[in-house]
Amino acid sequence: MRFALSAIGFAMILTLPVEGAQAEASYDAERRVFRLDGGDVTYAFKVSRDDLLQSVYWGERLEAEDPIDGPEIGGLSGFDVTANVVPQEYAGWGGGLFADPALKVAWPDGNRDLVLHYRSHKIERDAVTVELQDIQRPLTVILHYTIDPDTGVIGRSASIRNDGDMSVRIDRAAAAGYTLPVDERYRLHYTTGRWAAEWQRGDAPVSAAGTVLESRRGSTGSENNPWFMITVDGETTEQSGPAWIGALAWSGSWRIGVARDVAGRTRITGGFNPFDFAYSLAPRETLETPVFYAGYSDGGMGAASRVFHRFQRQSILPRHDGRLPLRPVLYNSWEATEFAVDEAGQMRLADLAARIGVERFVMDDGWFGERNSDHAGLGDWQVNPEKFPNGLKPLIDHVQARGMEFGLWVEPEMVNPDSELYRAHPDWVINFEGRPRTEGRNQLVLNLARQDVRDHLLGVLDDLLSKNDIRFLKWDYNRNWSEPGWPSVPVDEQQEIYVRYMRNLYYILDELRRRHPGVEIESCSGGGGRIDLGIMQRTDQVWTSDNTDPVDRLLIQDGYTQAYDPGVMMAWVTDSPNWVNRRSTPLSFRFLSAMQGGLGIGNDLTEWTQEDFATAKRYVAAYKRIRPTVQRGDLYRIDRPEEGDVRSTTLYVAPDRSQAALFALVQGTHRLDPRRPIRLQGLNEDARYSVERMDGEPLASATPTEASGAYWMRHGIDVPLRGDFQGVGLIFTRQ
Ligand code: DGJ
Repeated sequence: MRFALSAIGFAMILTLPVEGAQAEASYDAERRVFRLDGGDVTYAFKVSRDDLLQSVYWGERLEAEDPIDGPEIGGLSGFDVTANVVPQEYAGWGGGLFADPALKVAWPDGNRDLVLHYRSHKIERDAVTVELQDIQRPLTVILHYTIDPDTGVIGRSASIRNDGDMSVRIDRAAAAGYTLPVDERYRLHYTTGRWAAEWQRGDAPVSAAGTVLESRRGSTGSENNPWFMITVDGETTEQSGPAWIGALAWSGSWRIGVARDVAGRTRITGGFNPFDFAYSLAPRETLETPVFYAGYSDGGMGAASRVFHRFQRQSILPRHDGRLPLRPVLYNSWEATEFAVDEAGQMRLADLAARIGVERFVMDDGWFGERNSDHAGLGDWQVNPEKFPNGLKPLIDHVQARGMEFGLWVEPEMVNPDSELYRAHPDWVINFEGRPRTEGRNQLVLNLARQDVRDHLLGVLDDLLSKNDIRFLKWDYNRNWSEPGWPSVPVDEQQEIYVRYMRNLYYILDELRRRHPGVEIESCSGGGGRIDLGIMQRTDQVWTSDNTDPVDRLLIQDGYTQAYDPGVMMAWVTDSPNWVNRRSTPLSFRFLSAMQGGLGIGNDLTEWTQEDFATAKRYVAAYKRIRPTVQRGDLYRIDRPEEGDVRSTTLYVAPDRSQAALFALVQGTHRLDPRRPIRLQGLNEDARYSVERMDGEPLASATPTEASGAYWMRHGIDVPLRGDFQGVGLIFTRQ
């Protein structure tokens, strides 16, 4: 059933059950207030007396009968007129706006004033669509709102349509603006980092000195991630208090601005990065913005993350035959062989990987063209005949005969100047005519905005997947843009590259998935440089970081899981000392760190002892037992690791609470310091749970082997750890 309402004199509430949960979208015509209810959240906005779309409420769910309304807001003074003071849902830059605009345009006659007024709306199931229009010019903005019935996560985006007969230049286009009520205690949480050091936690008070999280790099980047969380100082902890969380579904340059405005409200505006942005919107053309998803929880930072994880599992991550498959235990050749891959060597690794229970064998970089180092070969996606004289088939057969599926590394968007592809098509890369082409890792970025490049890449990949039984692609991307030019199109279209590149990348991924539904894809960008809700809608797992040191990883994984689902967060056990920091750690410690996401193994297995194989076998078997809980359960961050002296306790609880997996790891212990018991969360109070160690070793003598959920949550469990790089994994099973 579909409902479409005109705004005038009509009030209606729709309550439609969605998989057991309820979402409601409604419009109160008298007050001109819209509200969306889903999960534990209510979101409301209204049409102001000046016909501006004004934010009203976003927080804990309110009663259906509650009369939600927002104040009529006027200008504060001659310096701050109405347009700047009303917290607009989607503010055009015009009429005296100084806060971050959602949309800024320039018409060919020089007019750059844009004032968006409410025109009409539609309500459909758990969604609201509102049409705004400039007060004079034929520019329409359609705002899309959805609310997830289960988690209350809001999805917001905008369609910007040129209804006139001349092109209009868009200088800035956000997906949405969110507002939080007046409070001077807000704290913004974000992640920051760089290659091999992604996902470091950062925070800053929200103040009138705004904070900008952004990437100007052409892709998501790891300097910031397009994600935020806002908490209230003195109120919000890991376990309680209000927390707002949001992320952009966009893998190109992006920006999220957070600032307290002149009236004390906090405004969060996110979308395309306006830096170097220009989009020439032709008559009757529409520009679609990415979706800016955002959620709320009053259960603290932990619950906000869990809400967001659940939302990703239910609504973002791609399905296969309607199912969200579990991540197989993977082996990857990169750290073992780097570019020196060949048939015999990979077969040998596959034999050894199969012995420990690996389910997916992935050959990384080095298998194609003249790829013997990172200086050549990218772009030439033909199997190297010296390394694989009979093509990939013998290796694939070998892998499959050992009960594993075969996966392959590709980096389709890149080209080495030393390649057949570049020699044939030097004009296919992003560049400014006649200017130097800055290389990063000896490579250049192909301009996917070009139709010919898009079609070429789709053809090459389609062919690779059609001719070989490849079930998994690790899709890498190892540099950022420089000289972001697109010389082959008219000047006024060249900066559309920021949008068109990404749309074509999404097209290729979508099309490959459609043509090869059995194939899974991993998003990798030299590690975690391209992880966002946009790429996650099209890839099955993500490579979190090239930093595989198990201690650094605990910090990285803690940062990552604030925002994104641990179930698709790939983590490998690799050789010790680690290549990043030369730190030596026990194999069991490395396993316990990597088992907290999708488990992978990247060791040179030819160097392993019998004891290493036995340890690995034990942990892989334990991992398979807890895999559904780790990948589908609720994550509780009991002790969050801090830089310098890392102690991390994380708990995963199965959705039906029948199992819990606890990981306690310390970088080192000090003196004879006692350790407080670990108190679990999320169990059934009344049920009884047995406990055992993941490595099969006996528990500490005073630890009961079985107790009630209440006992484990109130009394807790003593986990005696002493020494450097110590860890224990425990499995709790409901009896
Ligand atoms: C960067 C990735 O993150 C690594 O895992 C590996 O695939 C290399 N690229 C290969 O060049």
